[in-house]
Amino acid sequence: MFRFGIFTQEQYLKLGREKRGCAPPIAYSLLDAGDRPSADQVRAFEDISFSMRTSNGTFRTTFRDRFREVDGAALRWMLKLFAPEAEIRVEDRAVSHGLTSKEWAERVFQAFPNAWFEASDVLLELYEISRGGVAYILEPSGRAIQYVKPPFVVSLVDQAEPRRYPVNWLVARRAKRRFEELKLGTEWMAAAERQGWQARKIPFVHPEARELARRNSRFEMRVRSVFDITAEGSDVIRTMNILNSSYFSEQKLVEGVDAIFKSVRLGGLWIAGRTLEEDLSNHVSLLLRGDRAWEVVERIGQGWELERLALGAL
Ligand SMILES: C[S@@+](CC[C@H](N)C(=O)[O-])C[C@H]1O[C@@H](n2cnc3c(N)ncnc32)[C@H](O)[C@@H]1O
Repeated sequence: MFRFGIFTQEQYLKLGREKRGCAPPIAYSLLDAGDRPSADQVRAFEDISFSMRTSNGTFRTTFRDRFREVDGAALRWMLKLFAPEAEIRVEDRAVSHGLTSKEWAERVFQAFPNAWFEASDVLLELYEISRGGVAYILEPSGRAIQYVKPPFVVSLVDQAEPRRYPVNWLVARRAKRRFEELKLGTEWMAAAERQGWQARKIPFVHPEARELARRNSRFEMRVRSVFDITAEGSDVIRTMNILNSSYFSEQKLVEGVDAIFKSVRLGGLWIAGRTLEEDLSNHVSLLLRGDRAWEVVERIGQGWELERLALGAL
C-alpha cells in the first residue's frame, strides 16, 4: 500500500548495507555530502545516484571502476596517436556525477601530464526548496523531480512512482498539483523565496571528482549537452551509456553522431558504447576520425550497438 522514505543521514545509516541497493526512496537532499564527506556520506551519494532518474527520462547510473578496461584500451590508442608531452584535449560526456571521469582522468594525466580533461553532463546540481517541513527537489530548470514530506519521499518524474504503492502515488500526484499551483515560472527561485520557501543548492558532482577539480586545474567538470559541438575541437571524446535508442530517437542520435564528428579533431579518437545491465559488461567501439569518415580501430565486447550510425553518417 505504501512505503516510507529515507530523509535523514541517520535513517540511511540504519539501513542494512545489503538493503541499500533496493532500499526505500532516499531524499536527494542527502546528496549534499559537503567538502569533507564521511565514507557513509559518499556511499549515500553513490546509492542515490545509482537508481536515480531525471526529468528527461535518463538514468544517472554510474559506479566506481566501471570502465577499467575501456580506460586501458583508450590509453593504448592515445599513446599511439599523440606524443606524451602533447597538450591534448580530452572530453568525457554525459558523465553523471563524474566518478568514472575522475578515474580515467587520473590515468590520462599519468600518461599525458599536459592534457586538459573536461567531464560534462547536463545536470551537475539540484536545488531544494523547503517550507513548513516539506521540500521539493528541483532541477536547475525549475522542474520538480522529488517531494519530501516525512515520512514520505516520492518521485515527481513521470511514471517513476510505482502503482504498487497507491498511497505514495497519491502523495506524488497531490504534490505535483500543489507545485503547479505555485506558478513559479522561469525565475523560479526568486518566485519561491517571495512565497516563503527557502532555497539551497545541492551539488551533484561526486566528492572525489570535485576534489580532483580543486587540486588540478587541468580537470574541469562543466555543464554541456552530448549534442554540443566543441568549437575548439577535442582530440578524444568518450560517450558511454548516453547515445542509445532507449533515450533518444534515431534522428536525435544521428544529430549526436554528427556533433561528435564536428567536435573531434582530424586524427582524434571517439570512444562510444554501452554497459549491459544483465552482467555489467562493456560493449564499446573505438573510432578514429578521418577526413570524411570514422574508422573502427578496436572493439570491446560486441562493440557499440549503434556503430552503424557513425559509419553511415557521412
Ligand atoms: C546512464 S548515465 C551515464 C553515466 C556515465 N557516462 C556512465 O556510463 O557511467 C547518463 C547521463 O546522461 C546525462 N544526460 C542526459 N541527457 C543528456 C544530454 N542531452 N547531454 C549530456 N548528458 C545527458 C544524465 O544526466 C546522466 O547523468
